[in-house]
Amino acid sequence: MKGIFPIEKFKTLQTPFYYYNTDLLRSTLELVKSEAGKYGYHVHYAVKANANQKILTIIRENGFGADCVSGGEIKACLEAGFPANKIVFAGVGKADWEINLGLDRDIFSFNVESAAELAVINELAEAKGKVASVALRINPEVDANTHAYITTGLKENKFGINLCQLESVLDLFATLKNVKLVGLHFHIGSQITDLSSFQSLCTRVNEIQESMYKRQMIVEHINFGGGLGIDYHNPDRQAIPDFQAYFAIFNKHAKLRPSQQVHFEPGRSIMAQCGSLISQVLYVKEGSSKRFAILDAGFTELIRPALYQAYHQIENISNDEAVEMYDVVGPVCESSDCFGKEVELNKVHRGDLIAIRSAGAYGEIMASQYNCRQLPKAYYSDTL
Ligand code: LLP
Repeated sequence: MKGIFPIEKFKTLQTPFYYYNTDLLRSTLELVKSEAGKYGYHVHYAVKANANQKILTIIRENGFGADCVSGGEIKACLEAGFPANKIVFAGVGKADWEINLGLDRDIFSFNVESAAELAVINELAEAKGKVASVALRINPEVDANTHAYITTGLKENKFGINLCQLESVLDLFATLKNVKLVGLHFHIGSQITDLSSFQSLCTRVNEIQESMYKRQMIVEHINFGGGLGIDYHNPDRQAIPDFQAYFAIFNKHAKLRPSQQVHFEPGRSIMAQCGSLISQVLYVKEGSSKRFAILDAGFTELIRPALYQAYHQIENISNDEAVEMYDVVGPVCESSDCFGKEVELNKVHRGDLIAIRSAGAYGEIMASQYNCRQLPKAYYSDTL
């Protein structure tokens, strides 16, 4: 065993594979429950981070709800035993069959992102003789100070109802009989490490609540979305993110109406540090100016470095020889199939096992079969 990995067991498994530390997941869930519980907050796990059935089951067993963005995610959650009344359904482009699935199952709420979508939900609910519970997803125009691809709360982003259109959408509710406004939903982006962004979100939400109050409108719940970032550079230093500081910000800055409920949708902060991608070195290739460690995993198994230039810590878990510099690449026929340039690794040999850390969120779920590659298996610390 080197570090946190059962390396002798790993040697018997076909690489690449995902390895999940289910003890860390359980401890993370415990902490989220106790910190959110201090204020009576409700947590819906953002399924988009990882929809692996075993992971979903552990999260459901801990009493969490689910935040879904597709009919497929709703089905995955129902299969894992989540009660429908703990499922919220967001997304800018909900297809009719997906809305119908949510209506048939009586999910907790549809997080609606446009006037056009609200009209369609009303129509589909009417056809079933139902009234759909709706939370309006509002684009709060708050900068999350994160990567452009995962910023969602700015005017130019496709998400949510723009502030300037809110009044007209609220007017629309008065004319629609088969939708009921139950909440307001916000999500400003992902991998947010500057917590002051969440304070700015609270300030904006307070303003919006104030303007709705003037219309004598009070919703039952406010959903602040997800977005809490993790430390990709030091995965073991604070393996469980600072949920205490995170929830405390909302408790301090959000002005709630009596009996108003508060919801959150964390994904990455729950899952990322619980998973690693384990791969094997196929070749060490000496280039003219570089040395490459060529792995049997590629961006097909973890696309974040290629897609967002994201940093993931890479470790040679097979030996402790002196450190050398490598570009760590995969076998996919694209130059972007690179996990890291000039990475310091203990001297690498063919057959060494390499761990790419913090891959529990947006790893397995974003895997593809490009180049006709097989989707890898997952293994768990409690059953290995
Ligand atoms: N709620 C909504 C409405 C969202 O759009 C998202 C993420 C979440 C919650 C969960 O956010 P989290 O707590 O995980 O930050 N593939 C990208 C991340 C995309 C996030 C999209 N929305 C990545 O690998 O960084």
